[in-house]
Amino acid sequence: MLSNQFVISLFLLLCLPIVFFLVAPHVFSPPPRESLIPIADEIDDQILFRRASAGSSSHLSSGTPHPKLKIAFLFLTNSDLHFAPIWDGFFSGHPRSLYNVYVHADPFVNITRPGNGSVFQNAFITSAKRTSRASPTLISATRRLFATALLDDPANAYFAVLSQHCIPLHSFRFVYQSLFESPRVRTWHRSFIELISDEPRLWKRYIARGRYAMLPQVPFDKFRVGSHFFLMTRTHALLTVKDRILWRKFNLPCYRSDECYPEEHYFPTLMNMKDPEGCTGYTLTRVNWTATVKGHPYSYKPTEVSSHLIHHLRLSNHSTSYFFARKFMPTCLTPLLAIADSVIFRD
Ligand SMILES: *[C@@H]1O[C@H](CO)[C@@H](O)[C@H](O)[C@H]1NC(C)=O
Ligand SMILES: *[C@@H]1O[C@H](CO)[C@@H](O)[C@H](O)[C@H]1NC(C)=O
Ligand SMILES: *[C@@H]1O[C@H](CO)[C@@H](O)[C@H](O)[C@H]1NC(C)=O
Ligand SMILES: *[C@@H]1O[C@H](CO)[C@@H](O)[C@H](O)[C@H]1NC(C)=O
Repeated sequence: MLSNQFVISLFLLLCLPIVFFLVAPHVFSPPPRESLIPIADEIDDQILFRRASAGSSSHLSSGTPHPKLKIAFLFLTNSDLHFAPIWDGFFSGHPRSLYNVYVHADPFVNITRPGNGSVFQNAFITSAKRTSRASPTLISATRRLFATALLDDPANAYFAVLSQHCIPLHSFRFVYQSLFESPRVRTWHRSFIELISDEPRLWKRYIARGRYAMLPQVPFDKFRVGSHFFLMTRTHALLTVKDRILWRKFNLPCYRSDECYPEEHYFPTLMNMKDPEGCTGYTLTRVNWTATVKGHPYSYKPTEVSSHLIHHLRLSNHSTSYFFARKFMPTCLTPLLAIADSVIFRD
């Protein structure tokens, strides 16, 4: 009897590590968690997005005479707009009937607002909320910019997402004519966004919230990656603001912050699922990924700024040359201003 008990005890003792091994991952890794975005912010957003979905048309040319189509420039920033003087030069001399500017600035950061005469002066949107890396807050910020621009002006036809580290590589006239007057681009009227599927880290990014967290709405073969700095059509901006299904997935926090770049996946995956034919598959914002540091691309230094660099950054294998580039150190402002009129705005 005693030896029987001993054998059973021994057996249980030996089993324990096996049971622990099998059960532990389920017990000790948290279940799919709730979003970290405050519920009040999420409600604010849903109200804004619903208003934009209901109140704005994706059709542009309904009225006669045809309104001039506009480009909405959407700046997403958590610091000063270092290159505001260059952008002011870019827009200078062009009527507001051709463009609008909107800025989403993190309200928890002390940001110097460009003053009198700047296109940024009244461009800061009031719905802006806190943003941080490796979180879905950059998706929300972009959707707030879309919703605001959709509601603000029915003539906003293209939506360009930019950051404080972006600079123009051409004149405004070049950008406008390429989008609206070049027959090749105009007849497509597509979004310039990457929909990349052959990226080595894609699987790690897909399971960043848990092995099955994205299912069933987002199977791995639909999952895409692309730069957050894209140019979208009005139809696609509206589609993005209306989305609730994918947002519920991408809104979940990641287990690992080093594989967590929700904004690089949400927009390309949504476009890939809803309208891949309506996208070019490339972006018009040049970026240098040759030496990345903690997920950041290369930042150009003041000594590297030259007319040669600008000409080089414009070169593209696609239908039209690059319009914008990132990233530049804030100290590049002076050398960039020095070549703005003679190089950057000369096409
Ligand atoms: C923001 O800047 C102002 C003026 O420089 C300063 O007085 C204030 O303390 C700053 N606030 C924060 C939160 O850093
Ligand atoms: C902006 O312009 C107004 C009126 O011209 C002037 O009173 C004010 O000082 C200016 N502000 C800045 C920051 O230049
Ligand atoms: C890209 O960045 C690398 C440094 O990582 C630099 O050597 C190279 O010149 C840059 N390429 C271009 C086209 O500017
Ligand atoms: C264009 O394509 C060639 C060949 O694939 C490649 O070497 C080059 O880097 C590409 N240029 C740009 C600007 O992407």
